[in-house]
Amino acid sequence: MRRLTALLGLAIFLAACGPEIPEGATGEEIYPITCARCHGGDLSGIGTTPGIGAGSPASDEPRQYLVDTVTNGRSRMPSFGGTLTPEQIDLVVDYVMEQQGR
Ligand code: HEC
Repeated sequence: MRRLTALLGLAIFLAACGPEIPEGATGEEIYPITCARCHGGDLSGIGTTPGIGAGSPASDEPRQYLVDTVTNGRSRMPSFGGTLTPEQIDLVVDYVMEQQGR
């Protein structure tokens, strides 16, 4: 019974951590896990969440703006500085910029 309680605690803990990013994941793999539910699989935005792909306002912003947005959040955009490593943030920003055609 004690083991069951421990397992339950672990399951709740893991669920609270959000989707797990596999080690060695590429930007192309991180994007659908972390960003697509709001920005869409094709980066074109969903509902009131802006598109961040080719031709979007974000595609005119410097790279550092994207890194800052993902790391610290911006307005309704949540921060990922606590869930992604700086390397993973670099990779996913690389991926987004590639999709923007730059
Ligand atoms: C929970 C929903 C949500 C998730 C998940 C999310 N975003 Fe956002 N994002 C937003 C919203 C909402 C905005 C608009 C913020 C605002 O009002 O300025 C935004 C803004 C942005 C912007 C700035 C757009 C601009 O035109 O200024 C970038 C770049 C961005 N997100 C990239 C990402 C990336 C990369 C990820 C994955 C690591 C991600 N977002 C995950 C909701 C989300």
